[in-house]
Amino acid sequence: MSGAPHTPVLLTEVLDALQPAPGQTIVDGTFGAGGYARGILATGAKVVAFDRDPTARRFAEGLDPDRFRFVGARFSEMAEVLGEASVDGVALDLGVSSMQLDEAERGFSFMRDGPLDMRMGDAGQTAADLVNTADPAELARIFFVYGEERQSRRIAAAIARRRAEQPFTRTLELAEFIEKALGGRRGAKVHPATRAFQGLRIAVNEELSELEAGLVAAERALKPQGRLCVVTFHSLEDRIVKTFLAVRAGRTPSGSRHAPPREIQAEPSFQLLFNGAQAPSEAEVAANPRARSAKLRAAVRTSAPVWREAA
Ligand SMILES: C[S@@+](CC[C@H](N)C(=O)[O-])C[C@H]1O[C@@H](n2cnc3c(N)ncnc32)[C@H](O)[C@@H]1O
Repeated sequence: MSGAPHTPVLLTEVLDALQPAPGQTIVDGTFGAGGYARGILATGAKVVAFDRDPTARRFAEGLDPDRFRFVGARFSEMAEVLGEASVDGVALDLGVSSMQLDEAERGFSFMRDGPLDMRMGDAGQTAADLVNTADPAELARIFFVYGEERQSRRIAAAIARRRAEQPFTRTLELAEFIEKALGGRRGAKVHPATRAFQGLRIAVNEELSELEAGLVAAERALKPQGRLCVVTFHSLEDRIVKTFLAVRAGRTPSGSRHAPPREIQAEPSFQLLFNGAQAPSEAEVAANPRARSAKLRAAVRTSAPVWREAA
């Protein structure tokens, strides 16, 4: 779609895996600019779209109200909103949209000056709240675990010293401060604040626990034979999806050192649609660099009951 505010990633692969058909109801759990929803509607299926960002609703304008509904809520709420075993497919395209990144006022970007916000929705604590009040050890954990930033403690300690005199309020202010705290650019290809900003965004939006809850919600909302497709953009997300599907498909994950030993105690509730993850073609990455790190995993819901325990 030329001129679209957000170019959908892996759209062809997602539609191939979902196989939407007339008469079916598909959940687009991450509506964004509606790229997936439009692709699904074009097959004749109905779409119920979720987005925790209420401003995404503006991209629903013109969509046929007989076959399309927008729900301004988190995808983890889909089973409560729609009921158990009620839908034929669920698609999740994680992370933030290009619109959210591009609008300086949302505070996601370390390249555009805006308030230090980073909330996808309008509730909960902002990035400024976290940066200015979180315990330095907690800040370091956020940078290290969610941002995969090796210098996490150094950044957290520098922030704690500076905020005592002057709290942080702006994105560029924080980005430049982190750059200095790390001793400048030193030839790095990515901005030195990239990983810290990713960590803050994930923490502010509780993205990983939301993903875990969303997968469980999809297990509940899908009918037998319904399909689940998840597109992730970094290894933390992908690991959660991979582990969830491996466990639910009755394949023990190759063994996380951190997970308690688990017995397969329930009948598989999913069957993998293909082994491993699909990646975008070179042509897609060339046309849309944001697709670079995308991975698609997909599975079919079996008729087994919902697992009682979260994987
Ligand atoms: C990558 S964009 C989706 C783009 C969309 N597939 C398209 O083609 O336009 C992700 C969107 O999902 C929303 N989102 C992220 N996490 C969410 C969650 N847990 N529940 C509902 N919406 C979420 C974000 O607000 C954002 O609008």
